[in-house]
Amino acid sequence: MDSVRRRRRSAGTCAVLFLLFVLLRQCLAGDPYAYYEWEVSYVAAAPLGVKQEAIGINGQLPGPALNVTTNWNLVVNVRNGLDEPLLLTWHGVQQRKSPWQDGVAGTNCAIPPGWNWTYQFQVKDQVGSFFYAPSTALHRAGGGYGAITINNRDVIPLPFPLPDGDITLFLADWYARDHRALRRALDAGEPLGPPDGVLINGLGPYRYNDTLVPPGVTYERINVDPGRTYRLRVHNVGVAASFNFRIQGHNLLLVEAEGSYTSQQNYTNMDIHVGQSYSFLVTMDQNATTDYYVVASARFVDAAAADKLTGVAILHYSNSQGPASGPLPDAPDDQYDTAFSINQARSIRWNVTASGARPNPQGSFHYGDITVTDVYLLQSRPPELIDGQMRATLNGISYIAPSTPLMLAQLFNIPGVYKLDFPNRPINRPPKLDTSIINGTYKGFMEIIFQNNATAVQSYHLDGYAFFVVGMDYGLWTENSRGTYNKWDGVARSTIQVFPGAWTSVLVFLDNAGIWNLRVENLDAWYLGQEVYISVVNPEDSSNKTVLPLPDNAIFCGALSSLQKEQSHRFQYSEASQIARLWKMVFLIAWLVLW
Ligand SMILES: *[C@@H]1O[C@H](CO)[C@@H](O)[C@H](O)[C@H]1NC(C)=O
Ligand SMILES: *[C@@H]1O[C@H](CO)[C@@H](O)[C@H](O)[C@H]1NC(C)=O
Ligand SMILES: *[C@@H]1O[C@H](CO)[C@@H](O)[C@H](O)[C@H]1NC(C)=O
Ligand SMILES: *[C@@H]1O[C@H](CO)[C@@H](O)[C@H](O)[C@H]1NC(C)=O
Ligand SMILES: *[C@@H]1O[C@H](CO)[C@@H](O)[C@H](O)[C@H]1NC(C)=O
Ligand SMILES: *[C@@H]1O[C@H](CO)[C@@H](O)[C@H](O)[C@H]1NC(C)=O
Ligand SMILES: *[C@@H]1O[C@H](CO)[C@@H](O)[C@H](O)[C@H]1NC(C)=O
Ligand SMILES: *[C@@H]1O[C@H](CO)[C@@H](O)[C@H](O)[C@H]1NC(C)=O
Ligand SMILES: *[C@@H]1O[C@H](CO)[C@@H](O)[C@H](O)[C@H]1NC(C)=O
Repeated sequence: MDSVRRRRRSAGTCAVLFLLFVLLRQCLAGDPYAYYEWEVSYVAAAPLGVKQEAIGINGQLPGPALNVTTNWNLVVNVRNGLDEPLLLTWHGVQQRKSPWQDGVAGTNCAIPPGWNWTYQFQVKDQVGSFFYAPSTALHRAGGGYGAITINNRDVIPLPFPLPDGDITLFLADWYARDHRALRRALDAGEPLGPPDGVLINGLGPYRYNDTLVPPGVTYERINVDPGRTYRLRVHNVGVAASFNFRIQGHNLLLVEAEGSYTSQQNYTNMDIHVGQSYSFLVTMDQNATTDYYVVASARFVDAAAADKLTGVAILHYSNSQGPASGPLPDAPDDQYDTAFSINQARSIRWNVTASGARPNPQGSFHYGDITVTDVYLLQSRPPELIDGQMRATLNGISYIAPSTPLMLAQLFNIPGVYKLDFPNRPINRPPKLDTSIINGTYKGFMEIIFQNNATAVQSYHLDGYAFFVVGMDYGLWTENSRGTYNKWDGVARSTIQVFPGAWTSVLVFLDNAGIWNLRVENLDAWYLGQEVYISVVNPEDSSNKTVLPLPDNAIFCGALSSLQKEQSHRFQYSEASQIARLWKMVFLIAWLVLW
């Protein structure tokens, strides 16, 4: 009797202890880690039928996908196998408190050829479709990109039924010249000229027309099952072209723009500008008498150029009865009509009731009610000669990257590296080269208006944040333009287009301390200096609460070169993970003893 009761009691105690252990383990384990080993190197490719050099990661283009869940920690060891300094940047990943991981020249010294550098960051409070790409020189023109897909935690509902599959597509304009030749052209003051083709997932077009596409080109084939619904994550990772994306016979139900769920709407085609990402739900509701064309054609070019600048992949149903045939689905016929594309852009709205990465509705942050504290009107012009060099500007300033990254100069109090005097309006003075950046106000609410006085569509991207897109129109922006702003369901995203001769306004809450890159995504203009940084400093922070400390493995350069040690390949645990390990050990021992 007694012994039975004792056994029962000890079983109960054990159950309680076990529960406690499980809870403790959950506490201590924290957010999961995912580890990646990457080598970036030149790879041979022939996407347009002619052999040339591309940039691959672990030999692949597109590179490996980072498919993770909100709040995971990513540890990505990047070995630079190129013959030039390299940085990868995590496009759309906000790097909250962690500008040291952003991977642009203002925050990081580039990884020298033959060296490696381990990025470590948490994808905090984000969901959606993003990508990584090189930020150095014109490397992105050669590839080096891949997917970052951040899935929602199981407890957070999707605003649509779980799709039957996930398909990522990278659209990119492509040159037959390699990235060095393209850079030489820009250095010599020449424009890049039109690209030679359009790639989908690093592959050339399906041979939809024997005259236009040479034989033997490998194309992308997307295999699907009839009746299913897939989530297509589509990114424009190219040099400068805007694309119109469409699938023969199928609707595109837009559900996400760069980490925000949109109000769901069907489109027969969608304009995707350089640096932009969207998710569409596509239902395989056709009869599969043939395969179907998946098309990305360059926007706002004449018909002859469009023929060459068309990427074509194949959508293949498992019950398909034959190859795709006939003409491609039509592109919008609006080369000289400015309305269609801007109206489509305006129709993209935030779903204010959907949960984002957290259970509270996306729209619970009422951006329209917040008082703007700083206004920046940023005007671009066509590239122009400054001190004998062809350069691109914002408000008449062409950014010069200092040899010491801005963030390092700030941390080590190195004077004279940059100035916090970027003008908040275009100024009537000759253009100049400078390292002048925007002095942002921590927790300020900034309005930025991009005024495009150049001749092509440009898109702008802000690191560290998502901004609310509140207005877009042709002509010059004036104070009265604010009357047209969408103060309710403008979508929060990180990359927005500005049509030529038009403006786009965004609002951003500067709650992420750091020095963040604001750039044109068109690679030629970016390379020529059409970028700026926004410095956001919490004046009350003395304990690294708003910005994490400089990582142990930071690379030093410029004025700080003397701090750089020869690279050793000894793995070093960070202090935090050592303490976590220690605690885990203590509890494990305690548990074993109690058991
Ligand atoms: C990505 O991860 C999610 C969640 O773990 C999984 O369901 C999905 O199949 C993965 N997708 C791919 C393309 O591997
Ligand atoms: C192929 O393209 C050429 C040039 O645009 C065009 O003249 C021809 O009609 C096309 N062929 C077919 C079969 O569509
Ligand atoms: C979108 O189109 C599909 C057909 O392709 C249809 O089933 C669906 O109801 C449409 N959704 C909306 C929101 O219009
Ligand atoms: C399949 O759909 C196409 C396009 O809608 C149509 O022309 C064709 O007749 C259909 N075929 C069958 C067998 O239903
Ligand atoms: C918005 O999100 C909710 C989920 O909270 C969903 O039920 C609804 O269909 C979405 N509305 C639109 C128009 O996408
Ligand atoms: C930058 O802005 C802060 C307020 O956010 C101000 O205290 C500081 O003086 C400014 N610095 C310069 C150089 O203008
Ligand atoms: C650029 O600005 C000039 C002068 O303000 C104006 O005449 C011209 O129309 C503008 N061009 C575009 C494309 O906005
Ligand atoms: C903050 O981080 C810096 C290095 O980035 C370090 O020198 C300093 O000691 C840290 N301060 C505190 C209070 O942890
Ligand atoms: C380079 O990689 C090795 C592992 O191969 C790692 O131990 C080391 O920390 C890395 N170096 C840097 C600076 O991240």
